[in-house]
Amino acid sequence: MDKLPKIFIDGGEAEETRAASEAMMKHFGRPLDGQTTNPTLIAKNLAARVKGKISQEEALEEYKRIVQEMSEIIPQGSISIQVFADRETPAEEMLMQARVRIKWIDNASIKFPATFEGLKAAEVACNEMPVNITLVFSQEQAAAVYEVSRKAKYPIFISPFVGRMDDRGENGMDVVKNIIKMYKNRDGHVDVLTASVRNIEHILYAIYLNSNIITIPYNVFILWANNNFPQPEVNYVYQAGNLKEIPFQEKVLLGRNWLGYDLNHELTEAGVKRFFDDWTRLFL
Ligand code: E4P
Repeated sequence: MDKLPKIFIDGGEAEETRAASEAMMKHFGRPLDGQTTNPTLIAKNLAARVKGKISQEEALEEYKRIVQEMSEIIPQGSISIQVFADRETPAEEMLMQARVRIKWIDNASIKFPATFEGLKAAEVACNEMPVNITLVFSQEQAAAVYEVSRKAKYPIFISPFVGRMDDRGENGMDVVKNIIKMYKNRDGHVDVLTASVRNIEHILYAIYLNSNIITIPYNVFILWANNNFPQPEVNYVYQAGNLKEIPFQEKVLLGRNWLGYDLNHELTEAGVKRFFDDWTRLFL
């Protein structure tokens, strides 16, 4: 395969960003294309360094410092910063957080969850800043993301979470495939960012499917690098093993109002809770 998609690191440690970017430069002659962060990954970094509990303000300042360090390492890259939300957080609150975070660095995109309130916030935000809709697990959610951001003035990313579907026996890469198929021959305003990557096969298949971006946890990136950055052959076949197929849904058609799509998915709800709990566990 000659066309490598954009490669991001998925993490909360600037040193990983630096090492990965140096490895990309050495092998491909180009730096890392970006970074995704989330509350769990940042909380893990803070918990490892800060003994005991800290205040919300201190934790937020640390999040800001970490992404500023990442931005200095990859000033040309896109760095995703996530809003904090639980299932009750209204769109207005997420927007307020987004308008603070976007000022932290010059190359930020802001992550909103694929929930009703998250997309309501993104509908406004996408005319003010780059937006990344995260915790995506279904074609219907992807259709809503496409429609809610149709008039966006800034780049839009959508993050289908592969590993969390694999974890429960479903073929998460099918959702990536189905979204890319549904978006094919459309206006291309949404970049598919394959997320929740667990192994090299996810990387190879995401490249094969022409995912616009792949965000890779550092430990998997190192595995990929140590195998000399393999890429899929033209006749590549993804070995899904006994993962249950997630078929393409012909009935999910673009062109409707985003409010007409079913945004519900239990993994989105569980993911919002997990991010929120992992972050708030840090506080006094
Ligand atoms: C990226 O933006 C996501 O937050 C991340 O890939 C989630 O990965 P996980 O499912 O391993 O937590």
